[in-house]
Amino acid sequence: MTYIGIDLGTSSVKAVLTDDRQQVLAVAARDLTVDRLFPLWSEQDPADWITATVDALRGLKAAAAEDFRCCAGIGLSGQMHGAVLLDEHDQPLRPCILWNDGRAVAECAEIEAIEPDLREITGNIAMPGFTAPKLLWVRRHEPAIFRRTRRILLPKAYLRLALTGEAIEEMSDASGTLWLDTGRRGWSDRMLAATGVDRSFMPTLVEGSQAAGRMRADLSRELGFDAPPLFAGGAGDNAAGAIGLGAVEPGSCFLSLGTSGVFWRTTAGFEPRDASAVHAFCHALPDRWHQMSVHLSAAASLSWWAEVSGHTEIELLNELGLQADAPSPVFFTPYLSGERTPHNDPRMRGGFACLGHDTDRKAMTQAVLEGVAFAFKDGKDALETGAFPIREAMVIGGGSRSDLWLSILADVLDMRLQRYRQAETGGAFGAARLARLACSGEDPRAVCLPPFGDPEIFAPNPDRVAAYAERYALWRRAAEVARPLR
Ligand code: XUL
Repeated sequence: MTYIGIDLGTSSVKAVLTDDRQQVLAVAARDLTVDRLFPLWSEQDPADWITATVDALRGLKAAAAEDFRCCAGIGLSGQMHGAVLLDEHDQPLRPCILWNDGRAVAECAEIEAIEPDLREITGNIAMPGFTAPKLLWVRRHEPAIFRRTRRILLPKAYLRLALTGEAIEEMSDASGTLWLDTGRRGWSDRMLAATGVDRSFMPTLVEGSQAAGRMRADLSRELGFDAPPLFAGGAGDNAAGAIGLGAVEPGSCFLSLGTSGVFWRTTAGFEPRDASAVHAFCHALPDRWHQMSVHLSAAASLSWWAEVSGHTEIELLNELGLQADAPSPVFFTPYLSGERTPHNDPRMRGGFACLGHDTDRKAMTQAVLEGVAFAFKDGKDALETGAFPIREAMVIGGGSRSDLWLSILADVLDMRLQRYRQAETGGAFGAARLARLACSGEDPRAVCLPPFGDPEIFAPNPDRVAAYAERYALWRRAAEVARPLR
């Protein structure tokens, strides 16, 4: 028996095929692009997700045809918060408004005023990246589309609808909509009423490890499966990463250095921490929740710098080598899409500071890596406020391939980081585990184990920790001017 995990990310769709012993048999990825038509906007065409996913599935088949054929289950992991608005024929009415879109600022204030208990019910501050404020933006600015809306889905739920014909969502992703009663794990009638949304627009809710549809028979035949695979509820991309790392017990922590940056901690119960703009969401397994600090441009900052400087990310990193002996004299604030934790301000902007005639590309690249690490330090501080200090964490995400970046992070955060071999396929691997749970009904603790093999350790170096502590204090001042200069 084999299982497939599909991670619908922002920059690509990644798919993995795993076997009964949780070995990865094949990996396939297809790139996606983001449209930014106006300042603060960030959109994708949902049709591209389907094409990229079906293509990635074909890629798995090409790599391991026999094991692909007998796939029993598929799990979906997805970029969170995006609003896919569908008409009565389940056709998208407009491009999806993504998690890092910042246009719905006024609508956040509006929802908080209409439902003063919003933070208590959802565990979160209303932030423009979340789904509900986007719908109010559409109601105000695109009323014809709002009137025709009959269904509202998150990206991976739309992908599931296309692949199975069923409108089903699971708790971890649903937590990022502001329509979930996060403590009770169900849609909140009060939050739906506050935003004028009919309950019939919402997908059915399941846990991430439960069954959630089966592949359409025609598509299953076309792709060459022996029988249509069962789908699991799946997880938002960060929760899927947690499942892949075995971060299911309270207190387990990890960093995700993907397009976004996330500092995650699993909690036994619903523990809102909205004062510091920390998110409190459901985990993808029953009776588990989590908190996370979210940074909107982590690896996205390096991609941006690569594009602007006309070099690939690998070229830029190779120029720097494996270790930074001293902090860069340049500062970089990574607020290219604004920031969530701890600032909650989509209008903040990124920037370089302290450039001189002697500044070269290397100093600027190092500043980008450090700026992202400093943002993670803000996130760590926010998570630690009123809670235990965090001494070590695992790392996943495309950015975690860089030894240099992890060594900078270990020094800035003054903590040990552990990188496992599967670090890059984190979300997709976790989704494959959820597929297995949905098919087998096993105890999640038996399946969601820590990754196999010994991790590589990135330990803080006391001299560099001290140097970065000084730099961080100065960087906080540079970050102050990242607020809108209007
Ligand atoms: C989490 C968040 C991001 C996206 C990126 O709240 O917005 O991590 O899920 O894919």
